[in-house]
Order: sequence, then C-alpha cells, then structure tokens
Amino acid sequence: MTDKIMQELDPSDLGTLEFWEKTYAVEIENFRDHGDVGEVWFGSESASKVVRCINSKLLLKKEEDKIIDLGCGNGMLLVDLANEGFKKLVGVDYSQKAINLSAAVLEENNISNVELQVCDIVDAGNNLPGDFKLAHDKGTYDAISLSPENPKEKRLKYIENVHKILLRGGYLLLTSCNWTKDELVEHFREKFDLLLEIPTRTFAFGGQIGHTVTQLVFTKK
Ligand SMILES: C[S@@+](CC[C@H](N)C(=O)[O-])C[C@H]1O[C@@H](n2cnc3c(N)ncnc32)[C@H](O)[C@@H]1O
Repeated sequence: MTDKIMQELDPSDLGTLEFWEKTYAVEIENFRDHGDVGEVWFGSESASKVVRCINSKLLLKKEEDKIIDLGCGNGMLLVDLANEGFKKLVGVDYSQKAINLSAAVLEENNISNVELQVCDIVDAGNNLPGDFKLAHDKGTYDAISLSPENPKEKRLKYIENVHKILLRGGYLLLTSCNWTKDELVEHFREKFDLLLEIPTRTFAFGGQIGHTVTQLVFTKK
C-alpha cells in the first residue's frame, strides 16, 4: 500500500452540512423562480453513464429491486431512474433542503413512487433497512471525505453502513472526482469487491494518464 493511498483529502466546506444547506437554499429558490434544478455534479454525461450501466450491466429487476440514492441532492438521478421504469426508489440526504428540492423536482416531473428521507448515512442509527440491491453515490463519498472533522472515521462508517443496507451480492455504484480507482479499491476492499469500472474520459499529462472522474461498481462481499 503506498503512502499516497493512505492520505486523506484536504478538508473543505463541501464536507459540512452548513455548506449543503446554504447551497440547496439557493437552488430551491432558483428552481421555484426559473425551473433550474441546479448543479449537475460531474456533468450530465456521468449521470447518463450511471443509468446505462444499471440498465445494461447490472440487470436489475425494475419492479422488485430496491435502489437507494445516497446523498440524492436535487433528485435528478431518481427522476432518470423512475423514467427508466424502476419502481422501488429511495433517496436520502442529510440536508433537509436537498430533500425539499428533490421533492419539488420529482413532483414537477410527475413522479410519485420515490421515497425521500433526511438521513445521515454516516450516522450509526440511520434506520435504513438492509434490503437494497443497489446503492448509488455520485459525489457523496467525496463530500464525506472532505469533512473538516474526522474524515477517516466518517469514511469508514460510511463503508460499514453501505455494506449493512445492501443485500448479499448487492451493488454500490460510486462516482468520485476526488479519489482514483486504486484509492477507492483500497478503501473498500475489506467489504466490497470491484466488479467493473465505467470508462470515463482520460487526459494525458507528462506521460501519465489520468481520469477526471472515476466511476466504479462494487459488489458486497
Ligand atoms: C456533490 S453533492 C452530489 C449530489 C447528488 N448525488 C448529485 O449527483 O447531484 C453531495 C451530496 O451529498 C450529501 N451528503 C453529504 N454528506 C452526507 C451524509 N453524511 N449523509 C447523507 N448525505 C450527505 C450532500 O448534502 C449533497 O447533496
């Protein structure tokens, strides 16, 4: 294991609830005033790759398999999944304002089969059931990793809790722009196996090839 893989990220406001509450307070206003759903984290391409991967590689049963979006933000991924025909959808976020925005965005799209809940995924008593086939995360593990307080403990608790809420053989589909594939595999290896990497754009610099975004699917051990 290299030292680089053992390092934590530099702390940031993005790792605090206050930041997200302020962000979504503005985004709710923008949505009410202009119908603008706000920031599409990591771009619309990464969101459509997620939906394509779920449809073509993970072969979930749309009527039966439960999917949870961890840190659902504006709820747009839930809209996309509902439009694809997935029936058992749950969105959680620790920001009440994110949940309010998700509820408004879902209503605007005439989607009524999504359960929303304010929930801190790091919290041991989060009361989530253990019957999800797929947990989706776009940017939430990143945000937790940027916490100014105890980021490593929070990351480890996140990994433990996601493992608990998944069925045996369930999937975690994770999109990160802060961690590399090698780092994520190392973080998750005790409780998850890497199933596949979704190809993302690469850039070459000084003879090294890098990715701006990493998208991985893990299976629960
Ligand atoms: C980068 S945003 C991504 C939002 C959404 N997944 C998307 O792709 O648009 C990170 C989200 O994670 C949420 N979040 C951060 N820490 C969390 C935690 N411990 N439990 C639940 N949600 C959390 C934030 O409120 C925010 O909505």
